[in-house]
Parts: sequence; structure tokens; C-alpha cells
Amino acid sequence: MSIMSEGLVDFHTHILSEMDDGAKSLSESNQMLKMLVQQGVDTVCLTPHFYPYKESMESFVTRRKKSFEKLMPSGKKLGIKFVLSSETFLNDYLFHTEDITPICMNDSNGDYYLLTELPLQSSFSERTINRISKLIDTYSVHPILAHIERYPKLVKHKTIINQLIDMGCLMQINLSSLQKGFFLKRKLLRYFSDNLIHVVGTDSHNMEHRQPDYKSGIEILQKSLGDKMVKQISQNARQIISGCTI
Ligand SMILES: [Fe+2]
Repeated sequence: MSIMSEGLVDFHTHILSEMDDGAKSLSESNQMLKMLVQQGVDTVCLTPHFYPYKESMESFVTRRKKSFEKLMPSGKKLGIKFVLSSETFLNDYLFHTEDITPICMNDSNGDYYLLTELPLQSSFSERTINRISKLIDTYSVHPILAHIERYPKLVKHKTIINQLIDMGCLMQINLSSLQKGFFLKRKLLRYFSDNLIHVVGTDSHNMEHRQPDYKSGIEILQKSLGDKMVKQISQNARQIISGCTI
């Protein structure tokens, strides 16, 4: 059986409707889900943006619950497993929240993982590294840095990625980035080979210019690094979701 038919995980999506700059309606969410199912995805992480400086976690979680309740029947109908979580922006406001487990990737016992976003212009200064360290120490979570290819500093400096991984972080990229030019593709594939990228997602927002295109990227990964790498990435995602240590 091909790895592509074993059931893939989209680790990063903005499919939940009316939560952020993602899906604008339930109908758009449904179209996005159908598109993912057609590409062999059977598990979808719902990761709406959470900005702690704009909204309390309680308010975010309440809005998310309402949106999720609307989407649940579609998941059942399509045979999709949902993971309700967030893409959380890291700044000092987050530390006003006592318990962040409701916005983590897993809701069971075990390790907690938080899909974490930083300012795009982040230079990974000592201050930023200290803030990430504080996140790990305060909440005992593993930050999963979202779309690391968007940070020029990380694309350039493998040593910073290694430092972050040593601290307890994991790395995610958007699959579409494997189609954004020869040099970026070569660099990211090298990072995969060196086990510096742990999970992938579409980061899809809509059915227009940010569609859920999973297949194009995962096929590049498969052709370049083989079934074994795709299997490893899927396994990492499933372990994270169930709270296992990876
Ligand atoms: Fe995102």
C-alpha cells in the first residue's frame, strides 16, 4: 500500500469558519475539507490564530467551540479526525494566562505541544530565545514553530534551529513552500534530511489564493526523500496529537 493512501495529517489550517482571516463561512470550510480528503488527508488540525494581546484565552476558546460545533457534522460525514488547537502568537501577553492546555495540540495526558507563531521579522535575538525558553519553563510545553521557512534568519542559520530543538522546540513548514523556488526547496529538503523539520501543513485559509493544496508538496517530499520521510512526518504528527514524546 502506498504511503499516500495510509492517511495523512494536515497539521496547520485555518478551516474553522469566522475565527480569523481563514474560512469565511461553513460552506467554505466544507469545500476546504473535501479538497483535503480528496488528497488523502484523514486528520486535520484546526489551528485558528490566537493573539493573546487582542483577546483572552477564555474568549478565544468560547468562539472556537461555537465554530467547531458547526463543523463537527462535516467531519463525521467525511470521516475526518479533527484536532482542535491554535496557532498562538508568542509575546509577553501570553504569560498572563495561567493554563494554556486548551490551546495546545493535544487534550489528553502526556506531552503538550503548542503551534507557536513569532513576528515575521523576528531576528531570533537573545530576547526572543529567552521568551521561548520562558514558554517552555512556565507551561512545560514543546513549542512547534509554525512555518519556519518564513523567517529568513532560520532559513539561513541552521545553528539557531538546532539550538531551538535542543531547548525542546519542534519545527513545522508549509507544504506550499516546497514549490517556492529552487533554493528554498533545496534548503528545506536538506533540513528534512537532517531531521530539523518535524511536521507539515497547508496553512490553508480559503478556497481562493490560499487553498488546501497538500498533495503537490507532499509529492515533492516523497519524490525527493522517499516514502520513509513521508511516513516519518505522518508518524511525528500522530505522536504529537496523542501527546507522545518525539
Ligand atoms: Fe497559519
